[in-house]
Amino acid sequence: MKDILEQLEDRRAEARLGGGQRRITAQHAKGKLTARERIELLLDADSFEEFDMFVTHRCTDFGMEQDRVPGDGVVTGWGTINGRQVYVFSQDFTVLGGSLSATHAQKICKIMDMAVQNGAPVIGLNDSGGARIQEGVDSLAGYAEVFQRNIAASGVVPQISVIMGPCAGGAVYSPAITDFIFMVRDSSYMFVTGPDVVKTVTNEVVTAEELGGASTHTRKSSVADGAFDNDVIALSEVRRLVDFLPLNNQSKPPVRPFFDDPARLDHSLDTLIPTNANTPYDMKELIQKLADEGDFYEIQRDFARNILTGFVRLEGSTVGVVANQPMVLAGCLDIDSSRKAARFVRFCDAFEIPLLTLVDVPGFLPGTAQEFGGVIKHGAKLLYAFGEATVPKVTVITRKAYGGAYDVMSSKHLGCDINYAWPTAEIAVMGAKGATEILYRSELGDPGRIAARAAEYEKNFANPFKAAERGFIDEVILPHTTRKRVCRAFASLRGKRQRMPWKKHDNIPL
Ligand code: HXC
Repeated sequence: MKDILEQLEDRRAEARLGGGQRRITAQHAKGKLTARERIELLLDADSFEEFDMFVTHRCTDFGMEQDRVPGDGVVTGWGTINGRQVYVFSQDFTVLGGSLSATHAQKICKIMDMAVQNGAPVIGLNDSGGARIQEGVDSLAGYAEVFQRNIAASGVVPQISVIMGPCAGGAVYSPAITDFIFMVRDSSYMFVTGPDVVKTVTNEVVTAEELGGASTHTRKSSVADGAFDNDVIALSEVRRLVDFLPLNNQSKPPVRPFFDDPARLDHSLDTLIPTNANTPYDMKELIQKLADEGDFYEIQRDFARNILTGFVRLEGSTVGVVANQPMVLAGCLDIDSSRKAARFVRFCDAFEIPLLTLVDVPGFLPGTAQEFGGVIKHGAKLLYAFGEATVPKVTVITRKAYGGAYDVMSSKHLGCDINYAWPTAEIAVMGAKGATEILYRSELGDPGRIAARAAEYEKNFANPFKAAERGFIDEVILPHTTRKRVCRAFASLRGKRQRMPWKKHDNIPL
C-alpha cells in the first residue's frame, strides 16, 4: 500500500513539474508565473479541485510518443472565488508552448461542460502557441470543439479569458467568443498570424507588441477589455470582476454587504454641471458619487473613452453603468462608442444585471469617416441593445440629450422603466445654435437677431420640461438626491418581469 501511495505522489510530482524546471525558470525569467501558480492566485486558498492530471496526448507522429507530459499542457478543474464556484483552465507554456492537442482540448471541453451543467463561470488562463503542429487536423478539431462550447455557454455562464503569454492562431478565437478578455502588459500577445507571417504575406514589418500587445488590443482594436501590469494584478482583477457577476443566467448577481447609506445626499453634484453648456466635466465623478463606497469597475477604459461602461453596486447589488463622457469628443456617440456600449448592455441583459444610463450627449459624431465606416449600422447596435434589454433600466439625463442620441441612450421610448432628468437637462432635437441657423436661415446676416432667436430657443426648448410635460421624463430631480432616487428606482423594479415575443434568435445589425 505504501508503495502505491508513493507511486501516486511521484506521479503527481511529475505532473506538477509540467515541462520541467528549465522551462519553468525560463517562464519566470519572462516575468510570467506558471499555470499552477496562476491558479493558486486566482482561487481561494486550498479550494482547487484538479481533474485529468494524468491525461497524456496520443500522438505518434514526429516522434511524439517520446514526448508525453502528464496533464498535456493544461491544468483544469474548479475552485472558488470568495466562496463562489468557478471552473478554470490554465495553459502550461512549459509543455510544448501550451499548444493545443486533441486531449488538451478534451480537458478544456470537460470543464466547460461541467460549468454549463452546474451553472458556474469559466475562467480561461491562456498561454498557448495555438494548434499543436504535430497533431495536425486533430488539434484543429479540438479547437472547434472548444469554440462550439464557448458558443453554447455564451449567455448561460459568464466566460472570462485572461491572456498571459503569446496567443496565436486558434488560441485567440476561443477568447474572442468569451465575455471579457484581459491581457498582461509586455508579456501577452494576441494575433491570428504572427509578425513573421505578416512580413511574408503583406511585407509589413511590425513587432509582436505593435501587432498584438495589450496596448494595441485595449486602445485600437478593442479586442481586449482591460490590461494589467503583471500576472498577479491581472488575476486579482479577475477576482474583483467575478464578485460583480452572477454565476449563471438563472441566478441573480450577488448582493454584497454595503456600508454606504442608500439615501446619502451629495451636495457637490449640484455644481457638477458647468455654467457654460460647452464646458466639459468628468462623468466618472458622478458615477463614483452614486456608487456604493465609490467603487466603479470599469470595462474597456482605454477604448472609445467618449462612453464609459462598467459595474457599480447600489445597496450591495450589481448595476451596469453606461454613461456619456463629456471630457472626450464632448461625449458624442460614434462607431466605437456604440459598439463598446452595445456589447456591454447585451452582457448585462443576458445575465440579469440592471442598467443605469447617465446621459450627456450632443448627438452622433458627423463626418465621412463615420458614415463610410457604417455609423448607421453601428449606432443601431446600441439602440437595439437598449431596446431589447428587459432588465430593470433607469436613466438620468444630466445635461444634453440631443436628437437621435436622446432616443438611443435608454430613452423612455426604448422601454426604459424610470427616466429622470436634472434641471440642467436640455432635451431637444439639437442645440440652440444649430436649430436657429436652420429655422431662421434668412436672418443669418443679422447676428443680433440670430442671437435673440437662439436665446429664445434655449429658454423654450433647452430644458427638461417639454419632455416631462409629455411623461417622457418621469421626474426632474435635484442632482444631490440622485443616489437616493436611483437606489429607490431600482428597488421598485426588483420584481420586474418583461417578455419579448418568441423568436429563434434576434438579428442585431452586426
Ligand atoms: C507545437 C509549439 C507550438 C505549436 C510553440 N511550440 N508553439 N509546439 N505546436 N503550435 C513549442 C516550441 O517548439 C518550443 O518547444 C516551445 O513551444 C516554446 O516555443 P518558443 O518558440 O521557444 O517560444 P517563444 O520564442 O516564446 O515563441 C512563442 C510563440 C512561437 C510565439 C508562440 O512558439 C510560435 O510562433 N509558435 C507557433 C504559433 C503558431 O503558428 N501556431 C499555430 C497556429 S494555427 P521547446 O521544446 O523548444 O521548448 C492555429 C489554427 C487554429 O492555431 C485555427 C482555428 C480557427
